[in-house]
Amino acid sequence: LVAVFSHDPMHEIEDDDEQTGLNDQIVIKFSHVVAENTPKGLAAEKFAEIVADRTDGKIKVEVFPNEIMYSDEKELQALKKGDVQMIAPSYSKMTKVIPEWQVLDLPFIFQDEQHVKNVYTGEIGERLLGKLERENIKGLALWGNGFKQMTSSSGALIDPEDFSGQRFRIMPSDTIAEQFELLHAIPKAASFNDVYIALEGNEFDGQENTISNIYSKGFYRLQKDMTVSDHGYLGYSVLMNEEFWNSLEPELQTQIQKAMNETTEWMLEESKNMNDSQLRRMKQNSKMKIHELSEAEKDKWQEVFMPLYEAYSSEYGDKWIEEIRNER
Ligand code: LMR
Repeated sequence: LVAVFSHDPMHEIEDDDEQTGLNDQIVIKFSHVVAENTPKGLAAEKFAEIVADRTDGKIKVEVFPNEIMYSDEKELQALKKGDVQMIAPSYSKMTKVIPEWQVLDLPFIFQDEQHVKNVYTGEIGERLLGKLERENIKGLALWGNGFKQMTSSSGALIDPEDFSGQRFRIMPSDTIAEQFELLHAIPKAASFNDVYIALEGNEFDGQENTISNIYSKGFYRLQKDMTVSDHGYLGYSVLMNEEFWNSLEPELQTQIQKAMNETTEWMLEESKNMNDSQLRRMKQNSKMKIHELSEAEKDKWQEVFMPLYEAYSSEYGDKWIEEIRNER
């Protein structure tokens, strides 16, 4: 059994009446890599609150942010072994395991937040999560952080040519690597919590990330320029150890899934507000120069990225691309 039962002697004494039986409390350890004041950090806390409330404290979700438990390179292994019961890696990091998910990393595949929501919470999202079955992982939801922006300390990134020769930290994803190669840049994967030090040590010129990650991890202190390009979307697959899931009574599974759906609705709204307000804060307070990409400039980027769509289609067909586009 993978479930962790916490044993609290204080409760044993109180629990002689039929009260709550908290000594049988089921603990879900939920490990993630970002700061607490981010869409994922807040959603994890919110999920924990709703679950505690709906199950009368029978299930306790313990959240471990900032890679304090596992780095993003180790967390999937930890989930599979049952050392933690929940993680929420970006789906980009899962594309080595579920290659079809690379469709979600295609630049400019998502038009706006509503489009993201339609895909994540609709039937397509469900089918994408279904791909996890072959990995023996229970997929609970797709969560969103926001659109990704480009930052650098080696020159503003406005025309595609500006990227030439610059070194970028990326998440481990072939599509993202190719995106930078098409720009004649040099991508290299690194773990999220190594990015700050690597930027500081000039190991990379730049990186791509959401406003909330750039803000909460202080990348804006090190990077001279940021381009608000919204070229890609950073989303998460919320995963549970399947054996643990199967060990739960159906009633508890229902409560968890409901709590998850409620959290997802909330965070998809909240993430936009959070990214917007942190962008405003950086505009006011940071020395980093911020350039908002015009539609004409975006068109040039889009043209450069066309081969990514062709490569995806020839490998996996057009089905996913078309279905996602139809949700606009
Ligand atoms: C990153 O590695 O840049 C992100 O996936 C971190 C995160 O989980 O938001």
